[in-house]
Parts: sequence; C-alpha cells; structure tokens
Amino acid sequence: MALLDVQDLSFQFPGGYRALDRISFSVGAGELLVISGKNGSGKTVLLRCLKGLYRPFSGSITMQGRPMESRDRHAVGLVFQDAESQIVGQTVEKDIAFGLENLRLPAEEITRRTRDAMETLDLTSHARQRPRTLSGGEKRRLTIAGVLVMDPMILALDEPFANLDYPGVIQVLEKIVMLKEQGHTIILVTHELDKVLAHADRLMLMDAGRIRAVGPCDTVAPLAEECGVRIPLGRIPLEEMTWLKD
Ligand SMILES: Nc1ncnc2c1ncn2[C@@H]1O[C@H](COP(=O)(O)OP(=O)(O)O)[C@@H](O)[C@H]1O
Ligand SMILES: [Mg+2]
Repeated sequence: MALLDVQDLSFQFPGGYRALDRISFSVGAGELLVISGKNGSGKTVLLRCLKGLYRPFSGSITMQGRPMESRDRHAVGLVFQDAESQIVGQTVEKDIAFGLENLRLPAEEITRRTRDAMETLDLTSHARQRPRTLSGGEKRRLTIAGVLVMDPMILALDEPFANLDYPGVIQVLEKIVMLKEQGHTIILVTHELDKVLAHADRLMLMDAGRIRAVGPCDTVAPLAEECGVRIPLGRIPLEEMTWLKD
C-alpha cells in the first residue's frame, strides 16, 4: 500500500480558477518524488492541499489507506519556498522548538527533539544565534529542522534551492540526500532538475494543473522541456544530475 495516495484531486480558487485538475498519484514510504513544471503549473497549490491548508474541490487524499483529515495536519511537513517567512523564533533553538511548544509536550521531550533536529541539520553550533543572521543555506536548513522536529510522515519541500548560492545548494542537497538515506519520505518541488534528479526515485511533471507524466526519471525526464522545464539532457547523464560531488 502506498503511504500517500491522491485520487482525482481538483482544486479551485474562489474566483473559479481551477489550479488543479484531476490529479492522481501516490508516494511510497521512503521514496523521493521530485515534482516539476513551469511557474503556475500548480505545484505549490498541490503541496498546500496535501498539507491541508487548501480544501480540495473534489477528489481524495489518503495516508496509509485512511482519508486525511484536519487532525492529521502534522502528517505532511511543508517547508515553504520563502524560508524567511517560516522563521518565528528569536534564536535557532527557539525557532525549532516553537512547533513542539504549541503541542504542549513535556519540556525534556522538547529539549531532546530540538537537539536531535539541530544535530541532523548541522545547526548545533548556531543554537543561540539569531535566525536573521544566518546564511541562506543555514536558514533553509533551519526551516527543514523546524518541520522535521514535528516528525511528519512526509517531508514536502517547495523549491528548496531557490535563492541559494552554490554552497547553500550543496548544504541543503546534502541534507536532503541524508534524510532520504535515513528512510524519510520526501516530496521535492523544483524546476532545477539538474541539481537533484540523480537522487530521485520518480519524477512527476505538471502542466496547467494536470499531471503530464509521472514515473521513473529516465522515462519522464525527456518530456520536461515540453512542460517548460529545461534540463541539460543529452549533455549530462541522468545519474550525474546532482550538484553533489562523490
Ligand atoms: N491565491 C490565489 N488566487 C488565485 N489564483 C492563484 C492563487 N495562488 C495561485 N494561483 C494560481 O494558481 C496557479 C498555480 O499556482 P502555483 O501552484 O503557485 O504554481 P507553481 O507551480 O509555480 O507553484 C497559478 O496560475 C496561479 O496564478
Ligand atoms: Mg510554487
């Protein structure tokens, strides 16, 4: 059984604009699914539906065979594209602990989970630092830590490489690959396929609110250009589409 199953999902904005049109796909446990498509194709709207921030117009979202409901709002941990807007704490440590504090967990558990998340994302040495003084890559890692600490079943990353310099991309990509190796299930939205495709299990291409194709990267990647996503195909073999050096 798939971990996440989306069937015939449609979403419409109040003005009547249909941003998602009968989307069906699934995500297996431990999988890294990369979703791509040009601006406005519906990627962010889809993640917001999965997170439960938008109520679908029709269709279903099931997690481990059960319909997702509002009480499952921590099932999907969503890291927004605009990392800065997601940072609320005065320090790195406080920011990561923020979500746990809202759950009113015992203090020791909050401390332990915050420490673990800081270690996972290599932020321990920044624990007392003010988030706004972090580099772009560190900020992005902080937002991932703040979501991971909530122990979501799926980690959803919206354009995790946007506005990062080269070292920032490497830092974030290294962590994404490490989390996958640890068994995390990840949905990664990006149009920068050359940075990450080598690590993806499957690729899904969206166009105008619909799925153009979803499947193994080698069969789906050749359709990227007609969906408005440029990849240096032909020049770089699929397994070399990563910014990580080995
Ligand atoms: N709040 C909104 N109201 C109306 N239309 C919106 C809103 N947010 C996004 N859209 C439209 O929905 C479509 C999909 O947007 P989005 O999911 O953000 O695209 P992307 O694939 O770039 O993430 C776009 O055409 C966008 O203009
Ligand atoms: Mg978007």
